Amino acid sequence: MDKIAVFSGNAHPGLAKDICKYLKVGLSDALVGRFSEGEIRVKINENARGKDVFIIQPTSPPANDNLMELLIMIDALRRASAERITAVIPYFGYARQDRKDQPRVPITAKLVANLLTTAGADRILTMDLHAGQIQGFFDIPVDHLFAVGVFIDYLAGLKLKDLVVVSPDVGGIKMARAYAKRLGANLAILDKRRLSSEKAEIMHILGDVENKNAVIVDDLIATGGSLIEAVATLKKANAKNIRAAISHGVLSGSALLSIDSCRELEELLITDSIPFSNGKKHPKIKVISIAELFGETIKRIHNEESVSSLFD
Ligand code: R5P
Repeated sequence: MDKIAVFSGNAHPGLAKDICKYLKVGLSDALVGRFSEGEIRVKINENARGKDVFIIQPTSPPANDNLMELLIMIDALRRASAERITAVIPYFGYARQDRKDQPRVPITAKLVANLLTTAGADRILTMDLHAGQIQGFFDIPVDHLFAVGVFIDYLAGLKLKDLVVVSPDVGGIKMARAYAKRLGANLAILDKRRLSSEKAEIMHILGDVENKNAVIVDDLIATGGSLIEAVATLKKANAKNIRAAISHGVLSGSALLSIDSCRELEELLITDSIPFSNGKKHPKIKVISIAELFGETIKRIHNEESVSSLFD
């Protein structure tokens, strides 16, 4: 492991430290600061020549700053002759505009993929992309992890009877099926229509949720609008206890208020792909760490071992 070097920007130093702890390596030293007018200033403070470098940096809010820090760090490390640079992006932001589904819209996810490659990333390590096809926006290797493995132990430990896993929209069926299979649960799908970027409406439920304990699974929660709407729909259809397991807790705007006041939602599980509340406990939100998952994957990438066998 002496050739491995793990760096972090300012997005999530806590997760970077936990990953280093798993790997039993120290966090490498870099200054990621600001010039007086706010531009990002980076200086790598240790020799990176010939190193297998991993930069831990989710592109979570403030997404522009975090993305720019990552690009500049990659540039600095490439110019410092790192042998290989892996951008470790536990939450890949700017993923929601991933296709040209209306006139005059960008494909921002592709633009970000181009930026990362141009900066000098040799590979990408990420988790639960908003859309799996974003992997194909890169012409460098992408290792795509799933949070299902870290949530499943907790959910299985609850020993919930009559369980149904619910996908809040048609796009999430594949993810929901993975949970249902592992939990031995039934599957239900909500037919969600997006009215605006902040408002969603649920038209139908496909599957049986009556008198069932429901777990809604999704890749991200931003305003919480989709989740609250899904909970209300399930309650109306007489579901029993309702939980949610959502990989990325973006939790923007009034999301926390909405969750607090949603009495029908028993519990929300998120991972620490994005920092949440400085480690303070929240009565309804449980954070499950992905540090081991990422640490183990980094070790396998470094040792040229299989990553997919992690999911067996
Ligand atoms: C939608 O396709 C996503 O999987 C999420 O359901 C959605 O982006 C969550 O956003 P919000 O919490 O703002 O409803």
